[in-house]
Parts: sequence; structure tokens; C-alpha cells
Amino acid sequence: MCGIIGIASNRNICKDLLDTLNRLSYRGYDSAGISIVNDKKILERKIKGKISNLENLLELSPIDGALGIGHTRWATHGKPTTLNAHPHTVNNVSLVHNGIIENFQELKNSLLNDNTFYSSDTDTEIISHLIDNELKLGKTPIDSFLNTVKKLSGAFAIVAIFKDFNNLIIAGKRGSPLVIGYNKDEKYICSDVNSLTNLTKKISYLEDGDTVILNSNRVKILDENLKKSKRSIITVSSDRVVSSLSGYDHFMQKEIFEQPDVLSQSLAYYMDFSDFKMNEDKFNIDFSKYEKIVITGCGTAYYAGMVAKYWFENIAKINIEIDYASELRYRNVLLNDKSFSLFISQSGETADTLAALKFCKDNGQTIVSIVNEVESSIAKESDLVLPIFAGPEIGVASTKAFTCQLVALASLALHIAKVKNIISIDEEKNFINELLHVPKLILDVFEKENEIKKLAKIISKSKSAIFIGRGTSYPIALEGALKLKEISYIHAEGIAAGELKHGAIALVDKNMPVIVLAPEDLFYVKTLSNMHEVISRGGNIIFIGSCLDDILENTKLQGINVETSGKLSSPIIMAVPLQLLAYHVAKLLGKDIDQPRNLAKSVTVE
Ligand code: F6R
Repeated sequence: MCGIIGIASNRNICKDLLDTLNRLSYRGYDSAGISIVNDKKILERKIKGKISNLENLLELSPIDGALGIGHTRWATHGKPTTLNAHPHTVNNVSLVHNGIIENFQELKNSLLNDNTFYSSDTDTEIISHLIDNELKLGKTPIDSFLNTVKKLSGAFAIVAIFKDFNNLIIAGKRGSPLVIGYNKDEKYICSDVNSLTNLTKKISYLEDGDTVILNSNRVKILDENLKKSKRSIITVSSDRVVSSLSGYDHFMQKEIFEQPDVLSQSLAYYMDFSDFKMNEDKFNIDFSKYEKIVITGCGTAYYAGMVAKYWFENIAKINIEIDYASELRYRNVLLNDKSFSLFISQSGETADTLAALKFCKDNGQTIVSIVNEVESSIAKESDLVLPIFAGPEIGVASTKAFTCQLVALASLALHIAKVKNIISIDEEKNFINELLHVPKLILDVFEKENEIKKLAKIISKSKSAIFIGRGTSYPIALEGALKLKEISYIHAEGIAAGELKHGAIALVDKNMPVIVLAPEDLFYVKTLSNMHEVISRGGNIIFIGSCLDDILENTKLQGINVETSGKLSSPIIMAVPLQLLAYHVAKLLGKDIDQPRNLAKSVTVE
């Protein structure tokens, strides 16, 4: 993963490097560093931990100059230490890298034979050594760079600067994202567009295989065949507003509470509430001919796909094949012209999802994507992009993107059901009417925050928790468990309620909170039976769902009543109390809610 930035200018750029690293920190925050070329010297500062640590280091020990590179790391090879932080400077070259060099051990062994001294455990340092060796042989920086990149395998982006060249940056894109930014007398290279918009709105996307040679005045691009090439310069219309907390304690909290608004926007894009019809123009592919959808994504996005599986099968009567992107791409799943492939990703940059997309595309599939970042790599590779309108999601744990993904998926299910003549006009109206109530029903969940805090207290004292649900509440149980794990570091498992008795029930005792998800749906009674199986074994029930028969009163259970309004709305609404539950557990435990350990917002390595 990692975020990288390079700036070639004729003014001091240290502050801009740091600002951009802050904007890039969603890509990783294990360590950060910068290198600046000044007066034929490479000045380097790097440190373990977040960018604030680098800011402090630079205050104590400042460096500045007109040409430099910066990096924020999500560790792959080597622990998140200062020595493993980027940039990696070896004599005449300093570079930053995003991605993985798959043959690094082989290359390292060959260099070790030459008595090369290694100061880090990274795969990146090998690149610096290889380039420096070429420079020592008298090769030019560009030849040294190209000769080195030829030896590397994997997916990566590299940005390098050179001690004797105070106005030269060389960069290469092989699978990991890189964009160029343009200003008069100043040029930039960066992992993403949104992190650059504080510096420029004029950008070009690089293509895979591109090598770029840039200085403050000029950008030269060579394609994969080393032919001089042009990449169109576009003006990005809007600046990504650098989100502020607006009075909230954490971005995750803010994003949970934004859901009624962003979901309304998303619903309004896909549906016309004046005559309760789908906005058919948003789906410009003929879906009537397809019999199967191959769905994939990672983490929370994958769980959104799992919820949608039930909708596509029940409402649109279409076959579903679904798997994690990291599995799907290696499974040789059978694809034909009766199926299309559907990719779900908030960032649109997740490496596994993108690789699965390429696999499906190479096999002739029509590609539909559900993304938040509409300028992302996944969006660019798609035949149809269904945006989710969640707005920037800063908290690493996905919240509003998940529920907005569900809205886009529900809309696609309704559209397919309609074009296949499976639902009537009245049924379409009823589904739309049901979805229209979602924002208000989520506001009702917010009213219960104090009760949720009390439930959070119970979980915060536990070592482990189990979430159970049936139907669409099963993937919601998985998502609830994931939220709890990632921000509170409490072990949690989501289990299909009917499956619990086949093994995991052995874990149940009075110390095990079992969060039962029971909205008013087809499975309600069956889920209650599963709950009673847990009660009989002394389990500590936390009930979240519909209190149809005053269940909380009658059984003296702890929990909250959540009102849902039907098949499509139920999982969207049920996700919200679980987000709040995880948030309050993590807050009680004093965890780093917006940037939990070991994680990053955008996972651009396999
Ligand atoms: C969990 C979470 C992750 C992401 C996953 C996919 O809260 O955020 O599981 O859902 O890394 O990311 P995207 O959606 O950007 O492809």
C-alpha cells in the first residue's frame, strides 16, 4: 500500500510534502519520511509512527529544499520501524515505493554476494542499491532506473531523486497507482488525485508500464515500450474538502451520523420519489440477457455483496456466484456470456478487487462496479459505474460506505428484477417506498445511543463476542464482528444463527456476549429459537432487533428494539447499531478509533 509524493519546484517544499502525506495517510500510517535534494546532498528524515511524529522530528531537525519525495507506510516487508521507513537512500539515490517486489529475496541474495550492506528489512532498499550500482558504473539516472525496474517483478510504483541532480524526479508505475500534477514552475507525482488537489487541479493519470522524468518545468512520459507518450491533462473539478471533525470526537462517529444524509443522496440518484420509479437511465447496460452475476470485493465491501446475494436471488431471481476477491481471482471461476461481473469497493483501488476485475475482463465479462471514488482504477476499468455518494470516508473502519453500497446494490437488484419482468410496477413502488423510510429509521436508531453505550460496556469487558443472524442478518453479523475486531481489538465472530449449534456453541458461557440480530423478517421466529438455545447454555445475550412480543421485557434480556421496514431496508438499518456498538466499545477501551493498528484505508497490495 503506502502513499507516495514527489515535488519538483524552485521554492521550499517541505511543508507541502508533509501536507500531502497527511492527505495520503489513509494509505498507511506505520511510519513516514521525506528526502530532499539540496546543494548536491540528499537530506533525509524518517520515523516510526504517524505523520505527526515526522512533523515533530522536522521541527527538531529541519530540512528544506526545492525538490523532494515523501512516503507514508503500511508495512509489508519488515516491521514498522524507523529503519524500515521510506525513503531508502543509498549513496546517490533516494526513493519511495508503493507495492511489493516479489523477487526481492532473489535480488537481495545476489547483492549479498557482492557484500552489500543492508540497513533495513524492506524489499524497497534493494531497489536503491540496484540503482546506485548502475549510477556507480557511470550510467545516467534514467538508464539506471530503467535497468533496475526491468529486474523487478510484482506490482509497484517507485519515485526516485538523485544527489547530483537538484531538479530531477524519475518515477515508474507497474501496477500501483500514480498520477502527475502540473503547475507553472512546479510538477508533482503522487499516489492519488485527491491528495494533490491542495496543490493543483491539473492532473494526468499514468498508465501501467509508464516511466516519468520530471522537473519543475517539464514532464516526459515513456510508455512500456519506452516510446515518448502523452497522457491527457484533465482538470479535476472539485477539491476534496479535507474533512474536519465538525464537533465530533472521531471521523468514524461523524461518518456514522452522516448516514441519513448520504443515504438520501444515494437513494435520490437511483430512484424517483415523485412517482416511485427506478431511474432507469443510471443503468445503461441491457441486464435482461444475464442469468448469473459474479460478485466480489474485500472486507466490508464483500459483506455488502453477501447481503445483495439474498436480494438478487429473491427479488431478481438471478444466480449469484460470490467470493472474496483474493480467492476469486485464482479460482478459475466459470464465466460465460450469460454472466456479468460486479465489483464492490469504497476506494476503487483495492489490489485484490482490481486483480479479480482484470481476470474477469480478460475472460470477456461485462464489468459493473459499485464505488465511492468515481475516478478510481476500478471505476476506470468498468463498463458501468454505480456511484454510492458516501462522500469522503476518513475513518479506517468503513461505515457510511457500507450502507451506501447496500443502497446501490438494492437499486441494481430492483432494476434487474424490473427489466426481467420479475416484479410488477406495484412491487417496485413498494420496494422504493420501503427504502424511502431508511434515513428516518436510522435517525430512530441514533435515539438509542445511550442504550447502545450500556451494551458497549458489557462487551468492553469481554475477551470475545459472537454475532448471530439469519438471512441478510448473517452478513450483517459478519460485518458487526469485523467492526468490533478492527477498532476495539476484541476477538469477534459472525456466525449464521442456524449454524451455531454445529460447533461454535461450545464457546458459549456466561462470559461470552452473543449479539443476536433479529429484525422482523421471515427468519424472526427461527432466530429467536437459536437465541433460546444460547440462553439455555448460560450465554450472555445482547438482543438487537424487533421486539415484537416485548421480548426484552419478558425474557429480561438486554438489548435494543430496532424498527425496520422490509427486506431491502432491514440490513441497512441493522448495520447502524452495530457500528455504534463497536465505536463505543473502542472508545471505552481508549483505542485509536480512526486509525486502528495494522490497518489502512486503501489496501493496494495483494
Ligand atoms: C473494514 C474495511 C475494509 C474494506 C476493505 C475493502 O471496515 O473498511 O474491510 O472494506 O479493505 O476496501 P475497499 O472497499 O476500498 O475496496
